[in-house]
Amino acid sequence: MKKYLGKKISTAIFISGRGSNLKNLIKFSKSKISPIQINFIFSNKKNSPGFMYARNNGFKTLCLPNRNFMSIEKKLLQILNKKKIKLICLAGFMKILSSNFIKKFRGKIINIHPSLLPKYKGLNTHIRVLRNREKYSGCTVHFVNSKLDSGKIILQKKVKIRKNDTAKKLSKRILFEEHRMYPKAIIKISS
Ligand code: GRF
Repeated sequence: MKKYLGKKISTAIFISGRGSNLKNLIKFSKSKISPIQINFIFSNKKNSPGFMYARNNGFKTLCLPNRNFMSIEKKLLQILNKKKIKLICLAGFMKILSSNFIKKFRGKIINIHPSLLPKYKGLNTHIRVLRNREKYSGCTVHFVNSKLDSGKIILQKKVKIRKNDTAKKLSKRILFEEHRMYPKAIIKISS
């Protein structure tokens, strides 16, 4: 892949949990091919491993748990504007952003979801996929709009379901593909 020569896009990552996609995007952002620079990381969960990792690695972070999300969004908008954030990557972020917030960042918020959207929006995707005896599942990076997991698809990767799959095994194989796909999707929308 080609070295990125343009001005790096000031990017924020929003997380709620483990943070494996966050770590992967941090690693990617430090590579020569990356169009993004991570300038801000937000979590709504204080003790989440992802947030602790971000804090311990010198990133500008903010965590506002257990508060009215409207007031959180207000504070967030101030910081995002101050940091001139041009792209928001949701990576396991478990809150639903308001349509007002999304409007302010129209076309600039993307999300990764562990299914082949539009199938299996929402939670517990792997369990539902296995219960329905699907042949394939996968992952999707998409733009965020005001409907859950419904914005325009940027990239998608299929993963074959195996005979003795469990939700745990399947989620591990899909996560591997998520880590390959998220950076590719960012390159795609930035070129
Ligand atoms: C990933 O499977 C992602 O697709 C979904 O939430 C999970 C987050 O995992 N939206 P992690 O926190 O990035 O490890």
